[in-house]
Amino acid sequence: MHNAALAALDLPHTYRALAVPPQELAAAVRSLREPGVLGANVTVPHKEQIVPLLDGVTDAVRHIGAVNTVVNRSGRLYGDNTDVTGFRALLATAGFGLPGRSGLRVVVLGAGGAARAALHVLGGSASVVLVNRTVERAERLAAEFADHVTVTAVAAQAEAALLHGADLIVNTTSVGMERDGQDPGESPVPDGALPAGAVVVDMVYRPSVTELMRQAAAAGLQAVNGLEMLVQQGAASLRLWTDRDEVPVGVMRAAALQALSGSVS
Ligand code: ATR
Repeated sequence: MHNAALAALDLPHTYRALAVPPQELAAAVRSLREPGVLGANVTVPHKEQIVPLLDGVTDAVRHIGAVNTVVNRSGRLYGDNTDVTGFRALLATAGFGLPGRSGLRVVVLGAGGAARAALHVLGGSASVVLVNRTVERAERLAAEFADHVTVTAVAAQAEAALLHGADLIVNTTSVGMERDGQDPGESPVPDGALPAGAVVVDMVYRPSVTELMRQAAAAGLQAVNGLEMLVQQGAASLRLWTDRDEVPVGVMRAAALQALSGSVS
């Protein structure tokens, strides 16, 4: 996705994956200060640990507590979180442009880093039920975001009743994600639990139709996968790295789709 965009922009840079064990994070971050490095994306488990190694972070990073994008500005490193932009775009794809109507009832499944970005974006007038397998983690997150959004934490076992009446259900867990090239056929919610009238947003993008999305279709509900979030967080990162307002989002989406279809490894 990024290499296709860099080529389309006629830039000489390349985007590559770097496996960084925790004990090598500081050295890896130092290497990003070199001239010629535009920046990096950061993923699990470094999204939080990287914050003190950077020279500055945005307000969104301070609120969410996680960095997914590092920008090298003349040897100084800044942390941002473009999952926020990605999730906003994904919501818009599902018909929930923000700021949305007041009183939106949202169920967020999961309480990890992706859920934090979702709570940051939802904010304001939404009321959120946060469902997690480990309820203590949901409770901690709910307490942390209490000033920002009305949020109640519940254990996954109680969710069927709580899904009732939801306008929007957002899966931020990894349940349903492809493993070893196989669709696990698993959903974070039990069969028959999706309420009438809800829209389902699954942050999982591989497989392109998840078990949760199949459950939604069986119930006659609209559902979207996480592809647009993947593409738009990437486009937002590329804008920061290249200091451009416009990047070729269509090229990035096409490259992501091609890679996900298995024709590019
Ligand atoms: P991310 O930063 O991508 O959100 P994470 O911090 O590891 O990743 O969070 C993963 C989320 O998926 C968590 O809410 C996790 O639940 P726990 O807090 O109970 O671990 C959830 N999750 C992962 N696998 C799960 C499974 N098999 N069943 C239910 N929830 C699962």
